[in-house]
Amino acid sequence: MSNTPSPIKIAVLVSGSGSNLQTLIDQCQSGYIPGQIALVISNKADAYGLTRAKNHQIPTMVIDHTDFPNREAFDRALQEKIDQTQVDLICLAGFMRILTEGFVRHFKGRLINIHPALLPAFPGLGVQQKAIDAGVRFSGATVHFVDEGVDTGPIITQAVVPIQDDDDAKTLATRILQQEHKIYPLAVKLFAEKRLSLEGRRVRIKDFPNTENQALISPNEAP
Ligand code: GRF
Repeated sequence: MSNTPSPIKIAVLVSGSGSNLQTLIDQCQSGYIPGQIALVISNKADAYGLTRAKNHQIPTMVIDHTDFPNREAFDRALQEKIDQTQVDLICLAGFMRILTEGFVRHFKGRLINIHPALLPAFPGLGVQQKAIDAGVRFSGATVHFVDEGVDTGPIITQAVVPIQDDDDAKTLATRILQQEHKIYPLAVKLFAEKRLSLEGRRVRIKDFPNTENQALISPNEAP
């Protein structure tokens, strides 16, 4: 019997540029991630992420939150479309909507997000500036399972990015993004290979020796 896992189906939710989406597309195509992006949804019709998906013949859909009376109705529409596609994993990649508890519970354990800070420090928005203003020497990026809170779910992968004296929010965001493009594909790969399990709030990674924990700081297992 082969140990090769069968490829998973992934939905990616975006609101903007979609550079993380692009790395996920690229790493599915390269075979690094045993998966296939089956659907890209945006709440904004002009999100460049939609163009990136179309360039790779990936089905796209716009579900505009302003067309719905409230958060619950929007999330129900989103949930329905994702369910119809029958995906194994939902990746939030710069999706600028806070999701309702009902949505999060429905997809619990298969809904993940990337955040441009070293959680649990600096959840929320504008976090590159917040890290600079707080005077921390290091920030970074975090991929985590989504729970009912904002940026509070169990952590899968992280990368550290030193803050330089002359950094502003933009320069720091650029360097953090370079690390995001490594740790997001790594997290999705580990999920697809069924190597992640939850122990309380800790995410355990199967066959990931302690000596390789370094890979989560300077991801050498990542592309
Ligand atoms: C990234 O910094 C991500 O961490 C945050 O939103 C940004 C999205 O960038 N959640 P992109 O659209 O993937 O380029």
